[in-house]
Amino acid sequence: MGNLFVRDIAARPELDEATRSALRRRLTAVRRQTEALAAPLSPEDQAIQSMPDVSPTKWHLAHTTWFFETFLLARFDPAYRVFDPHFAYLFNSYYEAVGPRHPRPRRGLLSRPGVERIGAYRDHVTAAMGRLIETLDAASWALAAPLIELGLHHEQQHQELILMDIKHVLSCNPLFPAYLPPPPSVAGTAPASAEWIEFSGGLETIGHRGSGFAFDNETPRHKVWLDPFRLTARPVTCGDYLAFIADGGYRRSEFWLSDGWATVQQEGWEAPLYWRSDGRDWAVFTLSGEQPLRPDEPVCHVSFYEADAFAKWAGKRLPTETEWEIAGRDAPLTGNLADAGRYHPAGDRGAGLGLRQMIGDVWEWTASPYIPYPRFRAAPGAVGEYNGKFMSGQMVLRGGAAVTPADHIRVTYRNFFPPAARWAFSGLRLAEDN
Ligand SMILES: [Fe+2]
Repeated sequence: MGNLFVRDIAARPELDEATRSALRRRLTAVRRQTEALAAPLSPEDQAIQSMPDVSPTKWHLAHTTWFFETFLLARFDPAYRVFDPHFAYLFNSYYEAVGPRHPRPRRGLLSRPGVERIGAYRDHVTAAMGRLIETLDAASWALAAPLIELGLHHEQQHQELILMDIKHVLSCNPLFPAYLPPPPSVAGTAPASAEWIEFSGGLETIGHRGSGFAFDNETPRHKVWLDPFRLTARPVTCGDYLAFIADGGYRRSEFWLSDGWATVQQEGWEAPLYWRSDGRDWAVFTLSGEQPLRPDEPVCHVSFYEADAFAKWAGKRLPTETEWEIAGRDAPLTGNLADAGRYHPAGDRGAGLGLRQMIGDVWEWTASPYIPYPRFRAAPGAVGEYNGKFMSGQMVLRGGAAVTPADHIRVTYRNFFPPAARWAFSGLRLAEDN
């Protein structure tokens, strides 16, 4: 979040008194949903950090709370009593302007505070936020409301991280414990080969518009030029990906970027993360425990390097984020998202119905580096650190996944991860010049 809270106050008259009750309701709903995600987990589950990228569940519960305490309560409520002055050091994630912090790779060493005390911290801050929303004067409200919206979207980002991270934690247990029972099986039929949908290109405009919430990295809206292109109607499936593996995809350097090939050697990759073979059949670890591989489901937990190598093997390429947004701008904002409660991508259900599964199921890697849009300016101060300072060395993903909250995703939403990362729910779709 950057310049929204400065620039957009005048441009967003809807953030007036009438939004107070709506934001209050949304605060309650989002905070409860985070707690509901943690509810199936034991205190022991919630303390583990299985790799440096993963944070313990209880750290997410506390950090999202610290965000409201630091950026809203400390600033706007003179009577606010900080719950525990030590928590600023433990639960600041990466805000240099706010002060020093506990090193990220050592979050799993925090046996204390325990989940009970973090629960009390959450209750303390949620109650104080409720009072703040009701009592702020109009001038302060105009400043605070966009930050409250940001805090809620921030917490929804962490809801997805809670699911991504606990999946990795549980996958490290040789008993492959389940986070939730298996969902009822959804019939899917993968077409033998994916259909292609054509787009004429030309002079187009991308980026967020309108008065609703967006992160600063989705702006400014700007013009782009596109040559004609085609996209596959559905994401690449596990069945498609099995053919790549069977054809020696992980052993043939000709498909791989240099950094990708080095990573394959170093990490010993032979399949997507969470895939396991007994020499004959493949099984996939899911949040419902280990399940037989389903060829019709979108392939998930591949890195950018693997997505790019698959596309080269197929004789195609990844779409740019611009192509993806132009193609997806008329897509309905529905799909297999977190609200469906499956937390796992589902097979294609709409062969012949045009572009499908743009929203939900798997985040789709694009060929685009995560860099600022033309004329982007991060806001001054701590909140300007939200997105802008990460604009190097990462690639953009689009569309949301089966663990993304439904009222959090937009067609302009730019997610980003380093090219070797694969613990996010990341897949791909193919593109081609037309
Ligand atoms: Fe955060």
